[in-house]
Amino acid sequence: MSLENDKVLVIGGTSGFGKEVAIMAQHKKADVYVIGRDQERVNKLRYDENIQGSSLNAQDPSQLRGFFDKYGSFDHIVSMLGGAMGGSFLDSTVAEIRVAIEDKFFANLQLVQIASKYLRQHGSIILTSGSGGHPYDASGAIIGNQAINTMVEGVAVELAPDHRINAVSPTWTPTGLWRDMNSQQLAQQKTNVAENVPLGRVAKLDEVASAYIYLMENDFITGQVLKVDGGVDL
Ligand SMILES: NC(=O)c1ccc[n+]([C@@H]2O[C@H](COP(=O)([O-])OP(=O)(O)OC[C@H]3O[C@@H](n4cnc5c(N)ncnc54)[C@H](OP(=O)(O)O)[C@@H]3O)[C@@H](O)[C@H]2O)c1
Repeated sequence: MSLENDKVLVIGGTSGFGKEVAIMAQHKKADVYVIGRDQERVNKLRYDENIQGSSLNAQDPSQLRGFFDKYGSFDHIVSMLGGAMGGSFLDSTVAEIRVAIEDKFFANLQLVQIASKYLRQHGSIILTSGSGGHPYDASGAIIGNQAINTMVEGVAVELAPDHRINAVSPTWTPTGLWRDMNSQQLAQQKTNVAENVPLGRVAKLDEVASAYIYLMENDFITGQVLKVDGGVDL
């Protein structure tokens, strides 16, 4: 149940939820690695937190395999791959919807197929789904999240009994995903989201990150999607 000396990889560990997961795992004395595309963010994490990282595109299978060939197997592999999409089914182009599903579902499917070969005994994979939003205004994103949830159920059985897979499902939270918004837009969005969340606010990063840690530490949970969303879908 402890992460001490466990080897933990956070794909997308240089910003937002993933960075918080990496720092929490490091505080629990795990041996933490992160992947992100931006070299500066990787360097900053090494400098600020002494967490080792590599800059690569985890949607590229050859770069991902190269990383695992170099760094070997892990006890836990976390994926933050995926984006966001606003737009309905009728007013978005098929290409826009396809990109959202590619980035969320197929990128993670490919990652799971590769990463599952580099899991240590009793290791686990944790993906990132998403809650909130509606099919009518977040079409491709919702399909991507639902596809992740379904994949987790299937792969859990395929990986058992040696390995586990789960997902964490946050709702809208201020992270690097929204770095294009200015502070006024961010504040407005926070207020709008909070109004529709039963708990009346947006999440703190550590509230979301601690769910990944919990799923790493509990050896008897597999195939689950843990919502950390203030009850937004209720
Ligand atoms: N924040 C929200 O409101 C929210 C809500 C529901 C679900 N989610 C889900 O949470 C995840 C995003 O996390 P976040 O909100 O914490 O966003 P974030 O702050 O933008 O972090 C994303 C992380 O993933 C890395 N990354 C993205 N694409 C990559 C790629 N192809 N290869 C390697 N690294 C990559 C980013 O680094 P680089 O940019 O340097 O590559 C960064 O470290 C997504 O799956 C998203 O769908 C977010």
